[in-house]
Amino acid sequence: MLAPAPMRSLTGKRVIVTAGPTHEPIDPVRYIANRSSGKQGFAIAAALARLGADVRLIAGPVMLPTPAGVTRIDVETAREMAQAVDTALPADAAVMVAAVADWRVDAIAGQKIKKGDAQPALTLTENPDILAELGRSARRPRLLIGFAAETERVIEHAAAKRARKQADWIVANDVSGDVMGGDANTIHLITADGVEHWAKLPKDEVAARLAGKIADALQ
Ligand code: CTP
Ligand code: CA
Repeated sequence: MLAPAPMRSLTGKRVIVTAGPTHEPIDPVRYIANRSSGKQGFAIAAALARLGADVRLIAGPVMLPTPAGVTRIDVETAREMAQAVDTALPADAAVMVAAVADWRVDAIAGQKIKKGDAQPALTLTENPDILAELGRSARRPRLLIGFAAETERVIEHAAAKRARKQADWIVANDVSGDVMGGDANTIHLITADGVEHWAKLPKDEVAARLAGKIADALQ
């Protein structure tokens, strides 16, 4: 007779998940952002909570309901997201799904910039890399997972990010078709052991699979 499959559980484990875009204000009504629905990050937070994890979901501006059993912290900018991650530490694992804006505007206008004014010349400053900072932090979670949405040379770019940011795993997402905001993803999971190619899956199934792997890794 086959032995029963071991129960996967994340009870007693804290996991930080970042999700959604960040918004970097230009003036009171305009901002810079990456395209991101937040759906994949929210699905991962939900799947981790179903396995019993204490999930801290640090969410950029998205219109999504908070998954059951998840503690949600809403933020707007990359710097607020970095601060919220710091506050949520220590954690056993972190899954950085957010599409963080790479730059912020140096001088945010206090009033709405009017079209008739001189054309605005925005100067930008690079935002902190939250994943890379966690990778070199003394409080680095035991399992650190990054995402990489790539349009070309997906594995190569994602593997380079894994090394540069000192992540354990990179979940590489092939976005060469137009999947932004869609309900499925084609994933290549890059770990120290190599690359796993997943079939195109609904975001909920990507989330369930990843949560199961996280539970196995934290056993
Ligand atoms: N990331 C982060 N903080 C940033 C930028 C990215 O935490 N300021 C994280 C993302 O959440 C993701 C991973 O780093 O887990 C990769 O993000 P990505 O935008 O693909 O990488 P970049 O290093 O910003 O490279 P590029 O945008 O030039 O491809
Ligand atoms: Ca980026």
